[in-house]
Amino acid sequence: MSVLLAPSILSADFAALGDAVAAVERGGADLIHVDVMDGHFVPNITIGPPVVASLKRVAKVPLDVHLMITEPDRYIDAFARAGASYLSVHAEVLPHLHRTVHAIKALGVKAGVVLNPSTPVAVLHDIAADVDFVLVMSVNPGFGGQTFIPRSESKLREVRALLDRAGNPAPIEIDGGVDLGNIGRVVSAGARMIVAGAAVFNSPDPERATRDLKAAAAAALTSPVAR
Ligand code: DX5
Ligand code: ZN
Repeated sequence: MSVLLAPSILSADFAALGDAVAAVERGGADLIHVDVMDGHFVPNITIGPPVVASLKRVAKVPLDVHLMITEPDRYIDAFARAGASYLSVHAEVLPHLHRTVHAIKALGVKAGVVLNPSTPVAVLHDIAADVDFVLVMSVNPGFGGQTFIPRSESKLREVRALLDRAGNPAPIEIDGGVDLGNIGRVVSAGARMIVAGAAVFNSPDPERATRDLKAAAAAALTSPVAR
């Protein structure tokens, strides 16, 4: 399996999202990561379905929509209609996670479950066979540009082991504080979908930053980086 790079537009200029998408696509982005925040589950407020629908019209690659909202069940249809190809929901807000995951899949969208840094891998135990991907948060969600939490690396290995035991080859996504300095290690620990916000859009050349991150991730696949 290859590694998919998913630049997060959270750190892009919101007045020029089309240009941001085009730049990272030229750099080889595989997905566009879209951070949806409601000011309740996380302190920040970002964007909703209309903006996702506009992005869908200009993006050539699939949209990976990360819902950081308290009531994702109410909005799954809207984000699927807006054009999300991947939709991830936080385990922390969902007492009926099984129902939600299957509701997303029934819409023809890939369903992901997200774990906050303080959420144990064990919550995935009974849903591990059903998910299309798992997202491991390597920062506390809410803002771009935070520092990678080192424990996330061993958490990736734990999630991989759990998915393998369930016989599920689903990829693991990592989100938060990933840059050129640690992307090799997260790939070696099992991440196959890599979100990068600040490392792409706070750089002077997002196209080149995307290309460099992809190259570093691919290199780690062929020669794993030591722990
Ligand atoms: C954080 C978001 C991330 C964020 C990552 O709440 O879920 O997707 O954009 O940004 P960086 O790569 O800057 O940590
Ligand atoms: Zn995200």
